[in-house]
This record gives sequence, C-alpha cells and structure tokens, in this order.
Amino acid sequence: MRPKDLKPPFSWEERRPHMQDGVLYIPSFYSEHEKWSFPGFETIFGRSAPVFVEYCSGHGDWVIQKALAQPDACWIAVEKRFDRVRRIWAKMHNFNVPNLLIVCGEAQVFSRFYLPAQSVDGFFINFPDPWPKNKHAKHRLVQQPFLDDLIRAGKSGAEVAIATDDLPYAQQAVEVFQTPWQSRLPAPHYTTGVESYGSSWFERLWKELGRTIYYLQFVKS
Ligand SMILES: C[S@@+](CC[C@H](N)C(=O)[O-])C[C@H]1O[C@@H](n2cnc3c(N)ncnc32)[C@H](O)[C@@H]1O
Repeated sequence: MRPKDLKPPFSWEERRPHMQDGVLYIPSFYSEHEKWSFPGFETIFGRSAPVFVEYCSGHGDWVIQKALAQPDACWIAVEKRFDRVRRIWAKMHNFNVPNLLIVCGEAQVFSRFYLPAQSVDGFFINFPDPWPKNKHAKHRLVQQPFLDDLIRAGKSGAEVAIATDDLPYAQQAVEVFQTPWQSRLPAPHYTTGVESYGSSWFERLWKELGRTIYYLQFVKS
C-alpha cells in the first residue's frame, strides 16, 4: 500500500464522523460530535484487551512498533493531519498490524467526545508541537482541559507519558499535572532517558541534532 491509496472519505460539505479502512475520521469545524455513537473498543478490535492511545502520532513509527511488540493490546494513533494519517495507514497495512486504530482528528475532540469513560489504560504524547511563543501558548496540547478529558477517559491507574525536546514544555506540563495525577518520577519530575521507550521520527531527528529529550510519566491515582 502507498499513502495515497487512502482516499479522503468525504467532501468538506459532507463531513461527519466516519469509520472506514481502519481509520476513524473526526471532522474539524463540526459541532455534532455528541450525535455519533461510538461502537466500543470490543467491536472495533474484535476483542477485549488493554487500550493505549498515542497522541500526535506523526508518521506513526512509534505506535507501529508498539502495536507489533504488544499484539495483545489495542493501540490508537491520533493524528490531525491527513497526509500523516496516510503514512501511518500505509505502514499499518504493509506491516500487517491488526491491533491499531488510526484516528484522523484533533486530540482533545477525540478524547472528549469519542473516548468512553474509564476505557483507556495508558496515554502517550510524543513530541507534541511545542508552540514556544507566549502568544501561541493556547495551542499547546498539554493543558488543564485536555488533562480533564484524560482523567475521564482513563481507567484508575492509567498512565500518561510525555516525550519532548522542549524543556519549557516539560516544565509547564509538570505544573499542569495536579491531583489526581501523581508523577512517577522524583523532582524535577522529568528524566532524560527511559529504557525501551521506543523511537519516532522526531526522536531520531532531535537526537541526531544533539538535543536532550525529556520524558515525563504520571499516573491517575
Ligand atoms: C512534532 S510532530 C511529532 C510526530 C511524532 N510523534 C514523532 O515523534 O515523530 C507533532 C505531530 O502532532 C500532530 N498534532 C499536533 N497537535 C495535534 C492535535 N491537537 N491533535 C492531533 N494531532 C496533533 C501534528 O500534526 C504532528 O504530526
């Protein structure tokens, strides 16, 4: 399969939540998310298994590796750009990855309107766009409203892991994660190395450029 083999499922005028070819499409500039009834993970994956979500999946290298390494778990890749969803989709087919659902949509909208309550075992946010300028700070994903959605969707004991090359982003995340979240790491609540974390396009790029990667890990207590 080539990325361009995945065709857009609807025109802008016909946009609606829609699941096809292993991809859940969540339209932007759309106001009727509540009307869509989520079929449930057992129906989607054909079995009951732990569910893990990766946000900001990009080209999908990290989540494909994880889904292949953990075939007994169900994985969800959330990516808002269709060109990148196409690349993940091509890998999903070419590597034969049955335990992956790709979500073409915005992370917070998916978490708020589509994830059932207390349904997810772990969340991973790998190299979210840092939006370093103050005037763009409102675009950062890791903020209180998003974490509230993760609290609702996460099972008791659910974990959130974040990887970023942006130290201010890591520090801001540490401030935002308040009770019921608890850091798994001692102060300053981030580390620069995690064994077997997995590797992604941006992780390789930043490491080649000599940048430090910061890892954070919180648990819903
Ligand atoms: C810096 S790239 C990281 C990609 C990948 N995780 C990696 O490590 O190679 C950030 C990705 O997150 C996606 N993204 C940013 N904000 C998002 C959001 N709110 N919802 C879904 N995807 C988002 C972007 O489209 C982009 O593909």
